[in-house]
Order: sequence, then C-alpha cells, then structure tokens
Amino acid sequence: MSEHWWRDAVIYQVYPRSFADANGDGMGDLEGIRSRIPYLAKLGVDAIWLSPFYASPQKDAGYDVSDYRAIDPRFGGLEDFDRMLETAHEAGIRLIVDLVPNHTSSEHVWFQAALAAAPGSPERERYHFRDVDPADPQTPPNNWQSIFGGPAWTRTPDGAQWYLHLFDSSQPDLNWDNAEVHEEFESVLRFWLDRGVDGFRIDVAHGMVKAPGLPDTGGDGTIEMIGTTQAPFFDQDGVHDIYRTWRPIIEEYEGDRIFVAEAWTDSAERRSLYLRPDELHQAFNFDLVLAPFGAVDFRKAIDSEIANNAGVGAPCTWVLSNHDVQRHVTRYGGGETGLARARAATQLLLSLPGVVYVYQGEELGLNEVLDLPAEVREDPSFHRTNGEQIGRDGCRVPLPWTREGVSLGFGPAGEPWLPQPADWTDLSVEAEDGVEGSTLEFYRKAIAIRKGHKATGLTWLADPGDDAFAFDNGALVAVVNFSDEPVPVEAYGEEVLLTSTPLVDGELPGGAAVWFKK
Ligand code: NOJ
Repeated sequence: MSEHWWRDAVIYQVYPRSFADANGDGMGDLEGIRSRIPYLAKLGVDAIWLSPFYASPQKDAGYDVSDYRAIDPRFGGLEDFDRMLETAHEAGIRLIVDLVPNHTSSEHVWFQAALAAAPGSPERERYHFRDVDPADPQTPPNNWQSIFGGPAWTRTPDGAQWYLHLFDSSQPDLNWDNAEVHEEFESVLRFWLDRGVDGFRIDVAHGMVKAPGLPDTGGDGTIEMIGTTQAPFFDQDGVHDIYRTWRPIIEEYEGDRIFVAEAWTDSAERRSLYLRPDELHQAFNFDLVLAPFGAVDFRKAIDSEIANNAGVGAPCTWVLSNHDVQRHVTRYGGGETGLARARAATQLLLSLPGVVYVYQGEELGLNEVLDLPAEVREDPSFHRTNGEQIGRDGCRVPLPWTREGVSLGFGPAGEPWLPQPADWTDLSVEAEDGVEGSTLEFYRKAIAIRKGHKATGLTWLADPGDDAFAFDNGALVAVVNFSDEPVPVEAYGEEVLLTSTPLVDGELPGGAAVWFKK
C-alpha cells in the first residue's frame, strides 16, 4: 500500500445515464448505481468517478449544469446521493464527482440573470459577452470555433451582444477573471466536500482561463477537444492560479481527497504542470487513447508520462477509454482481434506504476456501437455538424446486465435511452459472471493480482520480438505482444500469474499480454 490511496488506485468511471436504471424510465439513476455497488466491490475497484448528475437540461448529457448543488430529477435527489455515497463508503469504495467550472448551462440562474440585465452589467461580467458591431453584425468577435462545430459565439436573443461558448450554445463560458465566479466555485467545492465526496474530476481543467483580449487562434479557429494544442482558450498559464487556491481548500478536509484534471495538453510536460505539489493530484494521460496499438507508440507514451510526472512527484494516470472516445475494443479493430488487443492493453495498464481508470462496460469487452440511427443520437457535436462528426453516443449505450429483458437488465422496464445491440446479450454481466476466460472474470482476476503486486517502478527488459516489449515493475514481469505473430516468452519467467490470451507452447500469441511471477 502506498502512502496515498490515489497514487495506485483503480478508479471506475460511472456514466450515470447508462450504468443502471432503478426506476425504469430508460435512463440510469443514482439508486441504480447504489444497487450495483456490490458488483463494483467484487470487481475490486478502489473508487468511482461519477460523471455529472446535477440539475441540467441535458443538452450535453449533464455537462451543462443549471444548478451545481442539486441533483437532476432524472437521476434522483440529494437523499439518493447521500445513500449512494454511504453504500459506496461502506463497501470501501471512494467517490469522485465531476465538476464543470468552464461553463454553466444557459438555464443557470446566472446566465438567465445576465440575459435579463443590460450590456456592461455585473450580471454579464460573469460570462464573456461582447458587443455586436453594427457595421458587421454577422461577424463574431473573434475566429474561435465551438469544439462541437460552428462558431463559438452566439448572439443574445435581443441581438445586441455575442456570448462565448467553447462547446454548445447552451453552455456559455464563465469569465474566470470575475471574483464572483471564483467565490461560487469555492463554495460549490465545499458543498460537496461537506457531503463527503472524496474528490473532483475537473472538466476542461485546461480551459477556464482565456488569453487577455480573446485573440484569434491561428488557422481557421478550429481546435479539437481531443488531442488539442495550446490555444488562446486552452492551457493558458493563468489557469494554474485557480488550482493553487483550490488545493488548500481540499486539504482542509480529512480523508486524503483529490482533484483529477481533464487537461488536454500538447505534451506530457505541459500536463505535468497541473500536478505540481500545490495544484492537482492527477491528470488523465490521454496519450494511450490517441496511440495506435503498437510497441513503439505505447513505450514512448509510457516513458514520457513516467519521466514528466516523476519531475513533479505525481502519479501516472493511465486511461484507454471514457465517455468521449471510441471504446478501445473498436479502436483496436473490433471483433475478436480488437477484444484480444483491448484485454492486452488493459493488462499492460494494470501493471504500470500509477493509477488506472476503467470506463464502465470495458470490463465486459463492450464495443463502440457504430450504427445508432441519427434520430436517437443526442450528442450536440453530431447535430451541430449535421452528422459530419459522428459524436460520442456510441460509447454511451446503456450496460447489459442480463441476457434478456427489454433493456438487457439495465432497468426493470422501459426502452433504454439508446438502443443496445442484440449481440450484447453475450456480453452481459449475467453471461460473463463466473465464466472462466470471460472478459469480466479477466478484469476481476487482473485487479486482484495487481493488489498483491503493486508496481514500484518500471525497468525495460530485452524485447521478445518486433512490436513487443517486456518490463519488470518491481513486483512482476510483464510482456506485451502488439504484433500479430506469437513471440517466445519462456525467458521472462516460469510461473504465469495471468495472461490476456493463453500461451501456446511457451509462446505469447499476437495481441496478448502475460504477467510472470518474479
Ligand atoms: C469534457 C467532457 O468529458 C465532455 O463529455 C463534455 O462534452 C465537455 N467536456 C464539455 O463539458
């Protein structure tokens, strides 16, 4: 056990809409999550990261918050939240909640008050409003484009001013040069800390501070959320001052609570700046989300994360999937090959030094659902680009819990908010539970073995073949074969602790990983 739980935890992301639906309305809820805590305890995870469950018009699946201190009625009420938190804690599972400080919903009282107030008023100062140029009323104040497509500026209903929204027009950006915004979020932090949460995942943690004067970006103003570079609205140095005021707040509370940043930066070095000792505890490393399945790219990402995070004394934070990216089974080619590679990559992550995030359903081997009809898609990026960006609904389809039933056990009744593919019957918890070799049992076993074999470092060993690597993490020896050909692995150990795909005659098949006892 390391000194701090969050330095080597396995943290499971629950996407509330799609995890478990207790009331049968087709959408997940907090009581559904509570009822499945035993499942998470059996999986062996240390903590849950819960995506937004706050009051919200759900224009961006809850990342458009209209009241930071209330639960959306679709998910329950504050009593349900408290009960769920208590059940998680009783099971020894911590809970990290999502905080969305870059923007509010346009239905938030502040934005409504801003629209009702005059240009230049204190109410408008909490957001980024700019006058419309009467000589050129159609041209926004700068060339910034919304991450979800189209301009990042929309005109107020009276047409007199523009307001900034890096995401959907229903998500106006807050002005972090405004003292009230700081005070409000400090108060929101305390509200949830007082309720007992174990930390916060900070949404768009690199986005709150904008360059003075809101200058044009280079090019046509289009910046991708995923794999972005520095921009006048992303990864500005001033954002670090916010975290230096938040860190002392969280440290006032007992229980070793944490902040984890969603910070897309152009390098591991820039990302590690968020992890200086007086700032945040973790920052997702998305390099492996972006890396093709291959030894060279993976080793590069691993080395740079380890080196940069060591420089600031922070744990590495490994991620393969989340609610914004294509599920890794599908990224790696789908079908049997994609699943085998996904299991190998997961086994690799679980043997690296640091923290591992697991996205709900990956423990079942779920694939991205690619063929959702346009009419059921909800992601604003799909609609704002007329389908040019396919959007993120395909990784958000409700989990299959049972082989049968209207929503494969997701809820007691009602169609799920997104339809599940018919073949998810075989990927349901019921179909995999207790079945030797199933992906669910593989995850359970891998997480259990990891608990007794915590990595203390990483030393590369001689490569077993082309497009394959091996390392000693201080507790076990891991070999990962990214190629399609088997590689001999007998030289790395005698006793196999775990394989993602069984060895054949002392050889590790293509797209597989093995752990040997040291
Ligand atoms: C990142 C979140 O993960 C994503 O789902 C959301 O759409 C944007 N931030 C905007 O809040």
